Amino acid sequence: MSDPAWSAVDDYIVDKLIGEDAALETALANNRRAGLPPIDVSLAQGKMLQLLARGVGAKRILEIGTLGGYSSICLARALDEDGVLVTLELEGDYAAVARGNLDHAGVGHRVDIRVGPACDTLAGMCVEAETAFDFVFIDADKDNYPAYLDYAIRLSRPGTMLIFDNVVRAGEVIDPRSGDPKVAGTRALYDALQDNPRIDATAMQTVGSKKWDGFLLALVR
Ligand code: SAH
Ligand code: DHB
Ligand code: MG
Repeated sequence: MSDPAWSAVDDYIVDKLIGEDAALETALANNRRAGLPPIDVSLAQGKMLQLLARGVGAKRILEIGTLGGYSSICLARALDEDGVLVTLELEGDYAAVARGNLDHAGVGHRVDIRVGPACDTLAGMCVEAETAFDFVFIDADKDNYPAYLDYAIRLSRPGTMLIFDNVVRAGEVIDPRSGDPKVAGTRALYDALQDNPRIDATAMQTVGSKKWDGFLLALVR
């Protein structure tokens, strides 16, 4: 399901409010050349993440799912010089592309890319009692979303903002019989948040160049 007007309006939004971004365009070209899947956030979505992180005054940001670092560049731009973004990626090849893109964008010195299955990395971070994060963007394998929620809470402080990507999936999220494990994982996230005393949450449906999907936004109490 898609309407050409969705992308046209995204173009209008970018033209009016964001403008061309050479570093992000270079990142997309590098990702394409390296064969990474084109599943980055859109420019308008990346700017939204940047403004949210900046708006909460984030000094420490955690991202789960780096890909080629498109959203990482957006998040790193929200930080002051002394801020840090820790971003987790399964694939070493993707992380190498992301490293190049982040350095080229001039924010690489603020970004720590950790390679491996995110659940393992996150478990290690909990054991090490890593300083709490102020903002967490979760965008990796959707079947692990409930586990990522648990880890994100453990690595948060009261007031930390959590954002999950892809929580609508062209409406498939309301289909309990969907055989797609991404849908099942996303539904398990909603189940975990239903009447969860630790979290205050909502989700916003979006249309645009990423078709019909949405973000879930949560605050840790
Ligand atoms: N946030 C990126 C897009 C991420 S796509 C952007 O908007 O630019 C999802 C990423 O999660 C992929 O790069 C994939 O390799 C990674 N991923 C999948 N399973 C993972 C896992 N178990 N641990 C860490 N990363 C994982
Ligand atoms: C997919 C993953 C994403 O994070 C996204 O934003 C869009 C698509 C996917 O795995 O197909
Ligand atoms: Mg996504």
